[in-house]
Amino acid sequence: MHSSGNIILVGFMGTGKTTIGRALADRLKRAFIDMDVELEARAGKPIPRIFAEDGEAVFRRMERDLVVELAGRPVRHSLGGGGSNLVIAAGGGIVLNPDNIRDFSATGRVICLQAAPDEILRRVAGSSHRPLLEQGAKDERIRNLLRQRQPLYDAIAIRVDTTGQTVDQIIARIQAALRDS
Ligand code: S3P
Repeated sequence: MHSSGNIILVGFMGTGKTTIGRALADRLKRAFIDMDVELEARAGKPIPRIFAEDGEAVFRRMERDLVVELAGRPVRHSLGGGGSNLVIAAGGGIVLNPDNIRDFSATGRVICLQAAPDEILRRVAGSSHRPLLEQGAKDERIRNLLRQRQPLYDAIAIRVDTTGQTVDQIIARIQAALRDS
């Protein structure tokens, strides 16, 4: 695997970006950044309140600003060892603005995590912190949003299916995909 440059995990809600990102960062001894957590810290409130009080457009602008900031950091090239750059878990909507993928691709490897709709539903069933899934029945929202966004996720060259996989299996798949690409 390339030892320098960021590794950026994108993908729909519930595909495992945060869980896998943290485990991968641990494995590679890299710092981990969860964009949603960072945005909540900056806004001083949780994502549902950003959506409710400021609107989705404001959230998307904050997200865009953070991408520019993260992609603008100089890439440190490490000689051997585990690398010294970031593992970034992006929010599920990062693909909505093609500039985000372009900028991330310029500073690292973008990997799209995927999962079957039923598995996504199982993973997000108990959560209430995703405002886009709180409008109507969750399974219908997931299928509708997935239908709209699928072409954007499919446009990412490296895709890893996480359905029915353990964390270790997914990390192995990511490492293989990075080696082969
Ligand atoms: C969103 C996904 C969420 C969060 C926000 C919007 C989306 O992140 O950024 O609720 O548009 O898909 P996760 O994918 O980490 O849940």
